[in-house]
Amino acid sequence: EITLKEAYKNYFKIGVAVNPNTLEKDGDLIKKHFNSLTPENHMKPEELQPKEGEFTFEKADKIVAFAKENDMELRGHTLVWHNQTPEWMFKDGDKEASREVALKHMKEHIEAVLEHYSKEPFYAWDVINEVIADEGDELLRESPWRSIIGDDYVEKAFEFAHAADPNMPLYYNDYNESHPEKREKIYKLVKGLKDKGIPIHGVGLQAHWGLEDPSLDNIREAIEKYASLGLKLHITEMDVSVFNFEDRRTDLSKPTEEMMKKQAERYDAFFKLFREYSEHIESVTLWAASDRYNWLNDFPVRGRKNWPMLFDTENQPKESFLRVTSFN
Ligand code: G3I
Repeated sequence: EITLKEAYKNYFKIGVAVNPNTLEKDGDLIKKHFNSLTPENHMKPEELQPKEGEFTFEKADKIVAFAKENDMELRGHTLVWHNQTPEWMFKDGDKEASREVALKHMKEHIEAVLEHYSKEPFYAWDVINEVIADEGDELLRESPWRSIIGDDYVEKAFEFAHAADPNMPLYYNDYNESHPEKREKIYKLVKGLKDKGIPIHGVGLQAHWGLEDPSLDNIREAIEKYASLGLKLHITEMDVSVFNFEDRRTDLSKPTEEMMKKQAERYDAFFKLFREYSEHIESVTLWAASDRYNWLNDFPVRGRKNWPMLFDTENQPKESFLRVTSFN
């Protein structure tokens, strides 16, 4: 049986999101098929600096150690976000932070994290995650970073990261990246940064996709549009849900055969597209190794699974895996 990383060795790195738990339970599967790791949660701000000046790198460092022991590289995720960020970053004692204080918190966090990992095998960092508004005319979503600092918090984050590690490829990462309306907004943001000379080197397409949506044409258009900026692309958080997010049914304990067949066809078509654009795509990361554990087991409905990955709940290859590895 061929492995994912062998099948794709001439195309791109094959990554997986992990945490200390999955490394322990699914380590063999992860070692066998993947050559890049992204920490699913443990390099987010609340995990690395829960209190001002108190850095807790232990769990994140386990992930780095696992990568090195197994000859893998890492994608850092994420330096700045509106979620999973400790409250103190937006405060100055018990008052709201001023612009200067919030910028200082952001800068010191970015510097400490990039400094801590400066000798480790990272090939990219998500500097900013999901800042675009999904709907409406505004380009940026509301967030404490934005309301305290102003819209330029985005460029400041890239500048701080570049100053801290001038050789590190820096990424903007977002979801719904293939929907035409959001695609245009992401393009506008990233092009604006590039035009201003802000150090940004790539776009992360999260790729939380489903059986129907987005269409292949929309994905192709998104890839072409972002690549036209002369930036590298990473597929950063891929999964293919069998239920869409509007479907709140909880009474189905197993997906139908038809759903699994459709999922395999979708995975096949997506990876075919990625191979076609492999000149631009440097890595493809799945947001979990198998259906046993992944964030969609509880989202958007608690207790319902979504069977979104390439391996099943016993970590055995699914039809989807066979399809994406049997192209040559
Ligand atoms: O750590 C606590 C634990 O102490 C507690 O017992 C448990 C009870 O619910 O919760 C644990 O925290 C959870 C955390 O994952 C760690 O498992 C949070 O509730 C839960 O909200 C959190 O979810 C993560 C989510 O980001 C939060 O924003 C998912 O695991 C993670 O897969 C997901 O990843 C994001 C990417 O970073 C950005 N793009 C979207 C993607 C999917 O939502």
